[in-house]
Amino acid sequence: MKGLTISIILGLLALLTGCQSESTPPPQQSFDPAPWLEKGSRVQGASFAVLSTRLKSTMGQSGVSGAIRYCNVAAVPLLDTLSTKYDCTIRRATLQPRNPGNLANDHESAILQNWAAELEQGIEPQAVVQNLSADTIMYYAPIRMQALCLNCHGKPGEGLASETEQLIRDLYPNDQATGYAFGDLRGMWSIRFLNR
Ligand code: HEC
Repeated sequence: MKGLTISIILGLLALLTGCQSESTPPPQQSFDPAPWLEKGSRVQGASFAVLSTRLKSTMGQSGVSGAIRYCNVAAVPLLDTLSTKYDCTIRRATLQPRNPGNLANDHESAILQNWAAELEQGIEPQAVVQNLSADTIMYYAPIRMQALCLNCHGKPGEGLASETEQLIRDLYPNDQATGYAFGDLRGMWSIRFLNR
């Protein structure tokens, strides 16, 4: 009787584990990054276009300080609106944030460090896609410093005027996002898609 109970239990266990391994999806077997690279690049391009158009028009209308005040209140809400439009979650991440909410997480930091190492070897960093979990795809693309950016992210006394520096300190007391030069890696687009 005891033996029978044990074999029934073992049989049930075997059934259970059998069922479990059938319902677990095979790990990343059929993952093809190509369509996600394309999709990510489209969303990134559209987001950059919106942010840089707004930035340039505000700088034209109300100067560098007006544009800083604008970015301070508008950058994150603009990305939220774009996220809804493209059915994904768009953010910018960096190792040296101005807005502390943009500090890179562990996944993002690893990629940023990788790109920085590539740049040191003269390799141009490229966008990457990660199948983070069964239903989450991440698209990461580097953000580099252009001439215009140095007005607010450049070296104090060079690209960055002292009144600009002061306003940034007032709005962002823990700012780490100055001291950059043209071409430097500033951060990344980090775009989360749900694979459904
Ligand atoms: C007029 C000033 C100004 C200019 C010009 C400017 N930025 Fe910024 N940037 C800011 C401000 C202010 C924030 C913080 C926005 C916020 O509070 O979310 C910021 C945030 C960022 C962030 C998000 C990470 C962080 O540190 O919070 C990135 C990436 C970035 N800028 C890249 C650029 C690039 C690339 C350019 C040039 C194409 C540029 N910026 C030009 C003012 C500027």
